[in-house]
Amino acid sequence: MEKEENILYFVTRNTYKFHEISILFEVANINYTLKQSKVMPTEIQANNIKDVALFKLNSIKGQIHTSYFIEDAGFFVDTPLNGFPGVYSSYVMKTIGNEGILNLIDNFNEAQAHFTSVIALYFKPLDKNYYFEGNVYGKISKTIRGSSGFGFDPIFLPDAHPNKTFAELTTKEKNRISHRGIAWNKFIKFLRENK
Ligand code: IMP
Repeated sequence: MEKEENILYFVTRNTYKFHEISILFEVANINYTLKQSKVMPTEIQANNIKDVALFKLNSIKGQIHTSYFIEDAGFFVDTPLNGFPGVYSSYVMKTIGNEGILNLIDNFNEAQAHFTSVIALYFKPLDKNYYFEGNVYGKISKTIRGSSGFGFDPIFLPDAHPNKTFAELTTKEKNRISHRGIAWNKFIKFLRENK
């Protein structure tokens, strides 16, 4: 039987995120079992991703009896949109979507964007919260391209693969360079150091 203290719950209803994290988890080779929890955290509107993530984490305290984490991400068009949609990414995806973002951009040569991911962890052995952040920078594609991934992936050209959108990469390729992959590596380092 698996011991409860060896279970790590990823609290998410997003199947794409769970898929990406499952693949990262497989290669991490750590002494935990990853499970998905569909407990519903409370969402707040705040000025930054970290505050949103930590609030969500605390909102489900007591509902899971071992270590658990949530992940919150945002897409920031730094030039020319001064970071929009950022903390409003989810709402903007649901309303104007990728096409709406492309309509706001005139000069694609100068456009700059990034994704931020924050993994917020409640670590049962130390009874404390931790967070791990990752960022990935790139440009915006003039057209919507690719069919893998989710959200803003089809319009983001990461600096590491400037001719491909995130949605034209495999999950493994995206994970290697993505905001979520970078946050995840910090998270794994923490788990290894706190066995
Ligand atoms: P969430 O609040 O972390 O679920 O993400 C906010 C918004 O950003 C959602 O609309 C997602 O579609 C989008 N998003 C989050 N992570 C990614 C990603 O890795 N690629 C593309 N879009 C993302």
